[in-house]
Formats: sequence, C-alpha cells, structure tokens
Amino acid sequence: MRITTKKDNRKWISLAALVLQNTSLVLLLRYSRTMKAERYISSTAIVTAEFIKGLICIVLVWLENDRSINRLFRVIHEEIYAKPYDTSKLAIPSGLYAIQNNLLFFALSYLNAATYQVSYQLKILTTALCSVLMLKKSIEKHQWFSLCMLAIGVAFVTWPSPEEVQKRTTIQSQATWLQQSTGFGAVLLASMTSGFAGVYFEKILKTGPTSVWIRNIQLACFGTLFGLLIVFCFDYKAVMDKGFFQGYSTVVWIVVLLQAIGGLIIATVIKYADNIIKGFATSLSILFSSVISYFILHDFTPSLFFYMGTVFVLTATFLYGWEKNKVTSSVNEQARIQNILIK
Ligand code: C5P
Repeated sequence: MRITTKKDNRKWISLAALVLQNTSLVLLLRYSRTMKAERYISSTAIVTAEFIKGLICIVLVWLENDRSINRLFRVIHEEIYAKPYDTSKLAIPSGLYAIQNNLLFFALSYLNAATYQVSYQLKILTTALCSVLMLKKSIEKHQWFSLCMLAIGVAFVTWPSPEEVQKRTTIQSQATWLQQSTGFGAVLLASMTSGFAGVYFEKILKTGPTSVWIRNIQLACFGTLFGLLIVFCFDYKAVMDKGFFQGYSTVVWIVVLLQAIGGLIIATVIKYADNIIKGFATSLSILFSSVISYFILHDFTPSLFFYMGTVFVLTATFLYGWEKNKVTSSVNEQARIQNILIK
C-alpha cells in the first residue's frame, strides 16, 4: 500500500493552490479588461510584484526562525550576503523572468489575447525539453505524447470564438504584419525563457539545502533590480510625468498581489513537484477559469474548439500520470516477496 508522505501532501497542496491562484488571476485579468480605467505602466507592476514577493519571503524566513529578528538577520547574512557566488546564480533565472514578464506585456500590445495564449503553450514543450537536457529527467513515450496533447489542447481551449475572430480581424487590419510578427517573436522568446528559467531554478532548488524562501528572496532582489532597469530604459519619461504608481486601481493592486503570491506558489510547486506538472496545473486553471467565466461572468461562450480542447487537456493530464510500470512493478514486487520466502 502506498504511504502518503509529508512531501506528497505539500505537492498536492501547492498544486491546488496554483490552480486556485492562476484561475483567480485569469478571471481578474478578464474582468479588468472590461473596466475603463487609467492605464498603469506594466513594467512598474512587475517591479512592485517582485518587491512584495521579496517582503513576504522575508516574513516567512522570520517565522521559520522563531520570529527572532536577530536570527533573521543572521540567516540572511549567512545565506545571501556571505555567499556571493551562490547568490549570483539566481541572477540568471531572475534576469530571464524580468525579460519574459516584459516580453509578454509587449506581445499583448501587438497580438490579441487568444493568439498570445495559444502560442505561449509552446512553453509546455520547451519546459519538457529543458527538463530532459538539464535535469536528465526521463520522459516516457506516452508522456511526450501527452505533453503534445496538452499543448494542442490548451491551444484549442484558448482558440477564439467567431465573435472574437471578428474583433481580431479588425485589430489585425489595424496592426501591421511586421508588428504582429514582432509580437509572435516575443511570445516565442518568452516560451524559451520560461522553459529554461523554470528548469534552471528547479535545478538550483533541488541540488542544495538552501530553503525555498531564501532562494526566492535572492530571486526577488535581482528581479526588482532588473525590473527597475527595464522601467528606467523604457518608461522613465512616463514615470517622471505621472508617477510610478499611476493608474493603480484596487483591481491592479489585487492583480499585483496575486502575481506576487503566484511566484511563491510556483516556487513551492517547483520544489515539491516539478515544472512539467506545473504546466498541467496551469492548463487546468485555464479550463476552470473559462468554465467559471461562462457561468458567472457570462462573458464567454464555449465553442466546439473549447470542448475538443477540454477533452484533450483532461485526457493528457490522466495519460501523463498513468503508470505504465505499475504492472511491471507489481510483478517485481511479487518476485521480491517470493525471493524472501525462498530464503
Ligand atoms: O509562464 P511561466 O510559468 O514561466 O511563468 C513563471 C512566472 O512565475 C514568472 O512570472 C516568474 O516571474 C514567476 N516566478 C516567480 N518566482 C519563482 C518562479 C517564478 O515569481 N520562484
């Protein structure tokens, strides 16, 4: 009989939290799109989310250390300040995430949300590829098949309805072909950074004793610095004109907070499960948010593509978790027991 370990529990709790966080984020973003409000600067939102994430992690490390400020400072000094080489490793994923988060906002200015979501599913495959190359993870044939099925399924789920296509045609006629290609290029680049940065972070987390919260403080420090650099390069004038927090309505603050909490949940999912399973959780949340959107917000009508995509995503999820070796392992188990009896 399988014994459920503490790590198993953490894995399922973190995955459930990711589905919940991602579903609410998607719904809120959908809702915020229907509101008319002053525009906020996306690069500042990324910096704010990183900063809040770092602060939450500091509180978590303080709680882990018996709520002692002295111990908190000692841990931060020993784990971050006194290990510059180890800390600097986090500059790579953090720099990539800073570029990725900005690339995605950039892509959304040139592509419509559906095309963006469909093409961004490529990250499921880049993540699997990086897991094989960098972590030597073995992925069986049926799992590769299910990953392709998942990518196609999510693409179908996010495929635009006829009304959206109508809207898209108008947008497309406004945007030049070059702009759209640029947007698409940005999504492709973001798919690659997503796979690489996620797996790189997983490698760092799983090959050392340093706590996941300390790793996140390191990530958030670099993330805030890189993010500020991007604000300085691209939005300096706008910030100087109307301030860093211009357009920050309550909804924007909630989105920023959800983004910060999302980063923490993703880190725990990467620690207790892995990046590939994270892909399944976020795919399921896209499905859930569409269903909730249909029943509660009434701003979504499922198309045939949506139903087909749902079947693909659910089948892929079960197929990935299906243990082909279950039969083999039970045969092995019987042989092992027989061996013991003979001895
Ligand atoms: O699309 P993808 O799954 O690659 O997005 C990961 C997101 O999670 C990025 O926005 C990144 O900034 C965030 N993240 C984080 N903290 C981590 C790992 C990822 O904030 N430890």
